[in-house]
Amino acid sequence: MRLWRLLLQSHLGNAFWIELLCVSLPAPSNVSISSFNMEHTLSFLPGLPTPPDTHFTVQTLHFRKNTWRPVAACLELTAGQTCNLTRAFKDPLNQYWARIRAFTPTQTSNWTVSERFRPLFDTVLGPPDVSASGCGNCLLLQIRFPSTTGLQHFKRFYRRVVLYVRRSRDDAQFSLSLPYKEENIISYLETGVEYCVTVSVMSHISPNRISSKPCCAFTSPPRARSSLHLVLSLLGVFCALGFLLVGLVVHGGQLSFKLLRTPRRRTLSYILLQCRHRGSAPIVSHEVSEGSADCQQAASATTELL
Ligand SMILES: *[C@@H]1O[C@H](CO)[C@@H](O)[C@H](O)[C@H]1NC(C)=O
Ligand SMILES: *[C@@H]1O[C@H](CO)[C@@H](O)[C@H](O)[C@H]1NC(C)=O
Ligand SMILES: *[C@@H]1O[C@H](CO)[C@@H](O)[C@H](O)[C@H]1NC(C)=O
Repeated sequence: MRLWRLLLQSHLGNAFWIELLCVSLPAPSNVSISSFNMEHTLSFLPGLPTPPDTHFTVQTLHFRKNTWRPVAACLELTAGQTCNLTRAFKDPLNQYWARIRAFTPTQTSNWTVSERFRPLFDTVLGPPDVSASGCGNCLLLQIRFPSTTGLQHFKRFYRRVVLYVRRSRDDAQFSLSLPYKEENIISYLETGVEYCVTVSVMSHISPNRISSKPCCAFTSPPRARSSLHLVLSLLGVFCALGFLLVGLVVHGGQLSFKLLRTPRRRTLSYILLQCRHRGSAPIVSHEVSEGSADCQQAASATTELL
């Protein structure tokens, strides 16, 4: 620790003598390096008060090289910008520092130095992509990490995978811990049933586990059940149609019978009335001819019908 502090101070001192600028700007604050999946980013806040035309410049130091080097893409940052240090910190097993200072054409600030950064240990790994496919009474599981170049270094540090397997139907679940492999088989499962698997990867580097999102798949197409369902539902539809048809036929028959019956009854009652009121001389209608005998016949026919 003491060694690199001394180094930093000697470099700071040199910079001031050579550049002969007035060190009167406030130094940037909150300098930090964040890293996700081996992509490293430096962020900072301008010191207060910083004039609006201020720019910021970044340099990095390798533990083994002991010289500060400018980062080509971060020579003239403005407030609010970040610096991509992925290329500058490309050796995953090295240790690095970054520093930043503010400058205008006539003034500069002191450097603000970051904490020590170790790419392999300080990066945060995102969850792996998991895909699953059925293989009868088993599931074939593929685990993939993003193919960022830096991430390739991690493979040798993966130790185990823990698989959490949940049956969708009833949430019954169990877990399996296996040596790390990109392809895994989960066997002894039910066929034609959906399972959801969450994968958790443990590494030698970090105590934190990296968990995937649940990935769901059927062990085999749920064919037997679905065809049974189809047959049953078709049967149901046919039954319903049959009942509907029978109902229509019965109802239709009743209707036509009523239609046939109604007009005849009316004519006959009319004739009956005529017979009663006028005795032996009823008015002639189409169906019944003159005479009381006909009237009586009509009357008896009416009672039969009614
Ligand atoms: C820059 O650093 C020197 C020594 O560490 C300090 O005395 C000086 O006040 C600093 N300047 C500013 C503007 O912070
Ligand atoms: C900057 O750092 C200071 C002290 O370390 C902290 O209190 C403050 O919340 C930080 N500001 C931001 C915006 O992160
Ligand atoms: C940072 O640089 C790396 C390497 O050049 C690149 O792959 C990555 O996309 C960059 N990240 C951002 C946020 O620009």
